[in-house]
Amino acid sequence: MDIQTEQQPFSQRPIILLAFPINRTLCFALSFLLLSVSALFIFNFSATPFNHQYYDLLRLHQFLLQIFPRNGPSFSSTTTSPLPRACDYSNGKWVWDESYPFHSYTENCPFVDPGFRCTQNGRKDEGYRKWRWQPDGCDIPRFNASELLERTRNGRIVFVGDSIGRNQWESLLCMLTPAVSNLSTIYEENGKPINKHKGFLKMRFQEYNLTVEYYRVPFLVIIGRPPPNSSSEVNAAIRVDEMHWFSQKWVGADILIFNDGHWWNEFKTVKMGYYFQEGGKLNMSMDVMEAFRRSLQTWKRWVEENLDLNRTHVFFRSYSPVHYRGGTWSEGGNCDTDKEPERDYKKLQDEPENNIFISDVIKQMNYVKHKVQFLNITYLTEFRNDGHPSKNRENGTSDEAPQDCSHWCLPGVPDTWNELFYANLLSKGFRK
Ligand SMILES: *[C@@H]1O[C@H](CO)[C@@H](O)[C@H](O)[C@H]1NC(C)=O
Ligand SMILES: *[C@@H]1O[C@H](CO)[C@@H](O)[C@H](O)[C@H]1NC(C)=O
Ligand SMILES: *[C@@H]1O[C@H](CO)[C@@H](O)[C@H](O)[C@H]1NC(C)=O
Ligand SMILES: *[C@@H]1O[C@H](CO)[C@@H](O)[C@H](O)[C@H]1NC(C)=O
Ligand SMILES: *[C@@H]1O[C@H](CO)[C@@H](O)[C@H](O)[C@H]1NC(C)=O
Ligand SMILES: *[C@@H]1O[C@H](CO)[C@@H](O)[C@H](O)[C@H]1NC(C)=O
Ligand SMILES: *[C@@H]1O[C@H](CO)[C@@H](O)[C@H](O)[C@H]1NC(C)=O
Ligand SMILES: *[C@@H]1O[C@H](CO)[C@@H](O)[C@H](O)[C@H]1NC(C)=O
Repeated sequence: MDIQTEQQPFSQRPIILLAFPINRTLCFALSFLLLSVSALFIFNFSATPFNHQYYDLLRLHQFLLQIFPRNGPSFSSTTTSPLPRACDYSNGKWVWDESYPFHSYTENCPFVDPGFRCTQNGRKDEGYRKWRWQPDGCDIPRFNASELLERTRNGRIVFVGDSIGRNQWESLLCMLTPAVSNLSTIYEENGKPINKHKGFLKMRFQEYNLTVEYYRVPFLVIIGRPPPNSSSEVNAAIRVDEMHWFSQKWVGADILIFNDGHWWNEFKTVKMGYYFQEGGKLNMSMDVMEAFRRSLQTWKRWVEENLDLNRTHVFFRSYSPVHYRGGTWSEGGNCDTDKEPERDYKKLQDEPENNIFISDVIKQMNYVKHKVQFLNITYLTEFRNDGHPSKNRENGTSDEAPQDCSHWCLPGVPDTWNELFYANLLSKGFRK
């Protein structure tokens, strides 16, 4: 199966949204539903029947009902790190900048998925590309493709996560192209087409002997057959104590960029018959957030046991919000009328609980001198309701298909995530 499956029409799959009691239009809980059909393809087994409804119901229980403080200074961190205090790029505002982006790419970059080529798919406005993220109290260093390629020469940059991770990976591939004179020297090592693949893609930048790779692993841990004699309601077992098989391929990477969390909700797990397993045994009563917490501990252990953190830089990118207005994705929810970023931070969604879990686990790894970093892009991304493909889906998408308000047009918002990734990498003195 291919990645297009992620963008199949969903109209046959009914979904009920419990109304969010607060007048907010951004719905984290709905994120990645456009990707969810591909839940099937993360399995490396075929015998399990999947003849159930994938999306019965959405629940918003995993969100904290707290509002982040927005007025404080951005240097409020109470870190005890001996390193000089780095800039907090996560807090700031979007500013209109005609000259932005400086040295960038266009939609014609061969590594952009058809679904992210918004102009080619009919989007008329281009202003959404002219907003630049301005952190409070500091500037983001200008992204320099040659600099990043030089610093990663003979190396590997590895993205691990769901299809928003692929969105970001494609963005980085394209951001690097201006420094490569002959685009044919960038190729997928196994000849796989970029939009049809089964699990991972490995782009080689021949001139730099560098690979920039993407692994599709939405839970990070193994999801497999239920243990023998499981009850019939169990369609699969998410083994919270075992890293995904692909993880052996990540060892030796110079830079790892994870994302995770969007699939850890009841609707993509227990409601689909995917229960949690630990120590070889199913635990039918394990709560999904508890399972997520345990899987992050498994991830932490894996990082500690398998990576040389003197050498490897690890990022965990935070949650990427979705923006469906006027209903869920299946109820005609839309974002196509949004032509500029939200200006009122009070209208933003709350911090997803998943982010707090992730940042907590990373705080536990402080001893490695911040070689493991939480790349917090959630707040800045919340403003960008204007950045999604919306109704400008790729050719061949049915008119009744729901809008895509979870992925991002390219060039677009994920470029900023990569600018922040680059800035953080430089501030840690990566390979210099
Ligand atoms: C992410 O950044 C925003 C903006 O600075 C901040 O309010 C939020 O607390 C951060 N989230 C985490 C989990 O650190
Ligand atoms: C980008 O980096 C390259 C290689 O490090 C350097 O030669 C060049 O001057 C940089 N360009 C800019 C605009 O800073
Ligand atoms: C390319 O990089 C790999 C490490 O990723 C290294 O082992 C190999 O020697 C490099 N090849 C060349 C020609 O430098
Ligand atoms: C570009 O690279 C390809 C693949 O290595 C090569 O066949 C082609 O001749 C190169 N083109 C130029 C103009 O150098
Ligand atoms: C599964 O159930 C069968 C029949 O009840 C039994 O013979 C078998 O030992 C059980 N297997 C396991 C692994 O419990
Ligand atoms: C199942 O998981 C819960 C945590 O959610 C734990 O409290 C309980 O002890 C576990 N049950 C078994 C049988 O391991
Ligand atoms: C990492 O570097 C520190 C200090 O240079 C050194 O003591 C430690 O042994 C190194 N760890 C590994 C795994 O190489
Ligand atoms: C989609 O189809 C239209 C009309 O046939 C065509 O002009 C356009 O180039 C196509 N877009 C893509 C991305 O293939």
